[in-house]
Amino acid sequence: MNPFKYGRVVFDEDFCPRPGLEKHLRSYISSGQNVLLEGERRTGKTSLIYRTVRGLPKLRLLYVDILEIKTVSDLCRRIVNAVVSMEQKSGMVERVFKSLVHLKPTMTLDPLTGVPALSLDASIKLKPGYIEGLMDLIEEENKRKNLIVVFDEFQDILNLKEAAEALAVLRSKVQFHAAIPYIFSGSVRNQMDEIFNHPESAFFKSAVTLNVGELERDIFGNFLRGKFSKGKRTLSQSLLDKVFDIARDIPGDVQQLCGAAWDATSPGDHIDEKTLPAALELIYSRELKGYEASLNRLTGQQFRCIVGLSRIGGRSPMSSEFTKATGISQPASVKKALTRLIKLRIIYRYKREYKFINPFFRSWLIYKNY
Ligand SMILES: Nc1ncnc2c1ncn2[C@@H]1O[C@H](COP(=O)(O)OP(=O)(O)OP(=O)(O)O)[C@@H](O)[C@H]1O
Ligand SMILES: [Mg+2]
Repeated sequence: MNPFKYGRVVFDEDFCPRPGLEKHLRSYISSGQNVLLEGERRTGKTSLIYRTVRGLPKLRLLYVDILEIKTVSDLCRRIVNAVVSMEQKSGMVERVFKSLVHLKPTMTLDPLTGVPALSLDASIKLKPGYIEGLMDLIEEENKRKNLIVVFDEFQDILNLKEAAEALAVLRSKVQFHAAIPYIFSGSVRNQMDEIFNHPESAFFKSAVTLNVGELERDIFGNFLRGKFSKGKRTLSQSLLDKVFDIARDIPGDVQQLCGAAWDATSPGDHIDEKTLPAALELIYSRELKGYEASLNRLTGQQFRCIVGLSRIGGRSPMSSEFTKATGISQPASVKKALTRLIKLRIIYRYKREYKFINPFFRSWLIYKNY
């Protein structure tokens, strides 16, 4: 079986230890400090949280993922679901049900397992004030057994029309939950900055920042080598270096490329750079539909811009080299195309550089020689 896992949270032997980060996060949690956990997509934020919390058996994890929420009702439902799934383990759903009667919940029993589930009436539109009651519920839960509360993909709170109000309500409660450590995790840095570093935001400087970057090449390389050797494969250092370069050291993408190299080889093989094209082609064939759908949404200028980025890189797309290569004469047009490409979540901007969210889309564009 392919030992490389990507696209989901990794545990146990699939998690390459990050002792420094784990220690920092553990000590912040133990001292009740609220944490802002920042990092690019697929760097391992969620895995790090689970790993660290598992090492703190006295705490219960209340994990609220707010990815793609659009309304206050979505946010409230995600909080309720998180509390319910935590309490399902202890058979205490009825108690949660009673404390939420004002939200008109319905309780059903899973016909097969008999496990109770709880849902909120989807037709009721909830206002930011309701968040207050749910935060009080979290405080009550904490009295039973100590919690660590995680809001993952926290930047998506900015999707709400009432974002400022929702943030204010959350903050007003969080600051009095002195006994509860909160982790706010997010991958869209400029939006997380807007929440935590903007003087007008309710969350301004309210948490200590922990940055989840890349894994050290030596350590991660050994971890990956170990996985290959279990499948009786050896690999060259130059192949490993290339993998890290193409995947830009993002752990999830590194694992994806290693997984494809595994699929392209057999036990007893030595894997070197000659394996790379076959591994990449496997990834391209699996992701082709997504690439084509992305391209179909682009205008001619946006397309030329993305091809330019794939070849020249995104450090100075306003330069004359870039405009010449893309045939887009006006820097203002480049800027407009870049803004659209960010909106379409094809690229993102970090430290003045425009980067591809998916590094394999970039290498595919080069491979296709567009
Ligand atoms: N410590 C680790 N050891 C090995 N692989 C890791 C590690 N952390 C992350 N990964 C790789 O990255 C992938 C994504 O991990 P995870 O979901 O934790 O990242 P994330 O930063 O929360 O991503 P997202 O921003 O998409 O939510 C995993 O499936 C795995 O391939
Ligand atoms: Mg995550």
